[in-house]
Amino acid sequence: MITIIGAGRVGSTAAFNILRYRIGDVVLIDIFENLAKGEALDMMQTAPALEFDGKIIGTNDYSQMQNSELVIVTAGEARKPGMSRIDLMNKNAGIVKSVVREVVKHAPDCKLMIVTNPVDVMTYVAYKTSGFERNRVFGMGNILDTLRFRSYIALELNVSREDIRALVIGEHGDSMVPLAEYASVAGIPITRLLTKEKIDKIINLTVSSGAEVINLKGSTTHAPAAAIAIMADAIVRGRNRVMGVSTVLQGEYGFKDVSIGMPVVLGKNGVEKILELDLSLEARRRLEKSVAVIKECIDNLSV
Ligand code: APR
Repeated sequence: MITIIGAGRVGSTAAFNILRYRIGDVVLIDIFENLAKGEALDMMQTAPALEFDGKIIGTNDYSQMQNSELVIVTAGEARKPGMSRIDLMNKNAGIVKSVVREVVKHAPDCKLMIVTNPVDVMTYVAYKTSGFERNRVFGMGNILDTLRFRSYIALELNVSREDIRALVIGEHGDSMVPLAEYASVAGIPITRLLTKEKIDKIINLTVSSGAEVINLKGSTTHAPAAAIAIMADAIVRGRNRVMGVSTVLQGEYGFKDVSIGMPVVLGKNGVEKILELDLSLEARRRLEKSVAVIKECIDNLSV
């Protein structure tokens, strides 16, 4: 069973993906009981058309998450006029803390996936609040950046998106580090197919595309919800998939006491392994900057 806390746009769309791809049963929890119940009912009624048998419960009762294998936290607030990024971070840190306390109470053995932004900081807050081993607490961010990176490489080369493999590490935010040196088209390094100028253009698009969607429609929904489903599938089915996930570092890449996007093996136990790659000088420099950005946020936490 998979619990999703926060039945807003991202949470409910992720729930729907998890059901329709038959990844597991879903408990959808929100402080607004009617929202959670209504979403659950609406999704249940798609089952005969899409032919899935998974169960879905919508509720405001945290105890319903009992014995969940995976809990996904999408509860949070969006930035309101007059609110700074730091104000929003502290507001969401308060929400994440209170939700994680419920998780510890009702699903103490679960894997805990954080989605609420700023996700790297929230993952660190969840890790500290839960007291769980670090492999069990991780954040969804870089996999979404990677989906964007792959989409733009495919567009530039006019080839199938499916044949693009790529990796983005670092903060899920402006300081992210798309790794051109590890991107390929069916195994062919993109550095052999595209000029540096073209690759830089793709990287800039990757970094700015989340903000572009937000400018156009107010929030991002489908791409984060798809990324959540990919991670849920890797965990519940124990597939040991390799992807960028926000994970707490204790010395890897020379950093500690921070959660940041890294290439990991994601499986039954959550983060099974952090992969330590050789980075180009430029990527290493960008990663250091990215760590500094997240650490500064952690230092600015007031809750
Ligand atoms: N417990 C349960 N649900 C909560 C709580 C709480 N303590 N606090 C807020 N919520 C719920 C809200 O009631 C709302 O339904 O979280 C939901 C958030 O949904 P939306 O406002 O639609 O936000 P969404 O677009 O889904 O984004 C959620 O995911 O990608 C990130 O940046 C995004 O941090 C944001 C989060």
